[in-house]
Amino acid sequence: MSIITNLTRMWLTRSCKPFIFKNDYDQHLPYADCDNLGLYVHIPFCKSICNFCPYCKIKYSKELCDRYIDALIREIHIVGGQYRGKKKSTSLYFGGGTPALASNRLKEIIDAVQEHFVITEGIGVELHPDNVVPSVLHTLREAGVTKISIGIQSFQKNFQEILGRTDIKIQKLKEILYEVSFETVSMDLIFALPGQTFDSIKSDIETAFQIGANHVAIYPFIDFTFTSSTVTTMPKKEKKALLDAVTNYCAEKGYTRNSIWTFSDSQHAKYSSMTRDNFLGFGCSATTLLKDQFKINTFSVEEYCGRIDEKMLPTSLTLRFTLRQRMVYYLFWTAYSTQVNEFEFKKFFGISLKKMYGIELKIAKWLGFITEQDGVYSMTLKGAFYYHYYENFYTLAYIDKMWRIMKNEAFPQMIEL
Ligand SMILES: C[S@@+](CC[C@H](N)C(=O)[O-])C[C@H]1O[C@@H](n2cnc3c(N)ncnc32)[C@H](O)[C@@H]1O
Ligand code: SF4
Repeated sequence: MSIITNLTRMWLTRSCKPFIFKNDYDQHLPYADCDNLGLYVHIPFCKSICNFCPYCKIKYSKELCDRYIDALIREIHIVGGQYRGKKKSTSLYFGGGTPALASNRLKEIIDAVQEHFVITEGIGVELHPDNVVPSVLHTLREAGVTKISIGIQSFQKNFQEILGRTDIKIQKLKEILYEVSFETVSMDLIFALPGQTFDSIKSDIETAFQIGANHVAIYPFIDFTFTSSTVTTMPKKEKKALLDAVTNYCAEKGYTRNSIWTFSDSQHAKYSSMTRDNFLGFGCSATTLLKDQFKINTFSVEEYCGRIDEKMLPTSLTLRFTLRQRMVYYLFWTAYSTQVNEFEFKKFFGISLKKMYGIELKIAKWLGFITEQDGVYSMTLKGAFYYHYYENFYTLAYIDKMWRIMKNEAFPQMIEL
């Protein structure tokens, strides 16, 4: 598996040099001249822990959560205070864990962010279905939240049981979402679970749109090596047939494909913290992507608070890019939106995409992975599947390895990927 990702990396970066993450870091982050800057805040608390979940999370306790949020606000001020005036940023997303568990403190965090940043495209928060109650939704709205994303996984009992998730009261959910509205209501669904058929996913997608979602994220199930999940993964052929059937179905229904795994039933419904040219991440495990570096915060809540107490940034590792490495990051994350625009690439790097990756674009076109119109490269159905398939390799070879180490060590010396 890592052979595929390593060869691809060497080919696209034109170098044998791996991605080297070291435990050195900048106290002053160079984001002042970054355009299209997204913001991400991680809240790592959950009421109960799902055994399939790879994210940085810890069992909720009010005392620890409050201490963590105090530290988080200080991290926001340390980083935000490095820029004179207010920096324009596209969006602010709260992920986790289950950030809605801290709904009563989100306004404080948002206020801290808004002291330093002007957010132009709204604020998003992730919720567990148990958090979808009127009081929480009203609190979120009053705090300025415009988008919510609910971790449904499946509306069907047998798949909920496979994942160890509790039953969802569909009618109740519908009534509450009708009572308190948001610009985007997204629902996460997981596909490629054992025994899942096109009809069962179709039914989940339809239920989601019927009860108040205007956006769905249909994630392929990934079996991370460090989780204790016992779910078996679906063979490639079956998974491809399922993903193609879902994509065709969504196209027939007129849903817009916003990214590889997300579909919406209205143009303005968007929920994505990933497709930004640059982003700043706050909190445990949060990543920051800037022009010349990618950095990742410690996964340990205690060590995170400790660093902030010392007025230091909680960065655990930093990758300093070569130009080609940065281009690969750019293309990988931009392609997640299913499109790459050559004018945007030129604006970002000052070099033409064709000049840097002309051969690869020709091969991708020849293989039927992409089409080109007026400088915009769009993924075909086949291309989207292979991106998705490669992403799975990338996740297991890179993210799995890194997160496995980071979960055990707050500040590792170095990680090579
Ligand atoms: C942070 S959780 C969402 C909010 C909330 N904590 C919840 O679980 O309802 C993010 C999403 O990641 C997805 N996810 C978690 N583990 C996954 C895995 N092993 N494979 C694929 N998707 C996964 C789930 O769809 C989940 O809703
Ligand atoms: S899936 Fe959601 S609720 Fe479950 S452990 Fe992960 S973040 Fe927590």
